[in-house]
Amino acid sequence: MEELEIFPTRIYQGYDENLSEYRDNLMFRISEHSVNHASNAVSNVGGFQSNPFLYDVPTFREFHDVLWNAISPFIDQIAINIGSLGNAPKLTLHNLWYNINYPGAYNIEHTHPHAVYSGVFWIKVPENSGNLVMSDPCKHIIYGTVPTDYAFVPEEGKIIVFPSHIPHRVEVNNSTENRISLSFNINMS
Ligand SMILES: [Fe+2]
Repeated sequence: MEELEIFPTRIYQGYDENLSEYRDNLMFRISEHSVNHASNAVSNVGGFQSNPFLYDVPTFREFHDVLWNAISPFIDQIAINIGSLGNAPKLTLHNLWYNINYPGAYNIEHTHPHAVYSGVFWIKVPENSGNLVMSDPCKHIIYGTVPTDYAFVPEEGKIIVFPSHIPHRVEVNNSTENRISLSFNINMS
């Protein structure tokens, strides 16, 4: 007998080796923006989630190139994989926002509707500030028969891109410092 794992969930992970060059400046702009704007209320509980179109905010224009350099390799790889199936869709970075999870904050389970792939880019990750936990979208049916949750331990500079329909949540920030990340959506047309 042999066991086959079919229909795998393809997750992409890597690092932006250049983050240290702009990290302090980016965190300054995030802090500056968050004290002058209201948080969006989405999956965040106790934390701050910015306007999802951060690319349109003038004080973040200086980060366009460095963030594109960090994220575009993921888009390119997804395009290659889709291309291997004989398809050639247009993939675009639709939006991008920042998240500040203050001590005690967390994100309830959610998906990213109307996107095909979504990503997270960890900028500031104190120890014990909350893992990213993904759940199998078929959890209801297969619960207890195979592992249905997977925890990613966040690391500064690390980027994870995943199918947008995968339910995911962020655990409580049990540290005494803010946990800062960027999130983004990739659309296909
Ligand atoms: Fe999310």
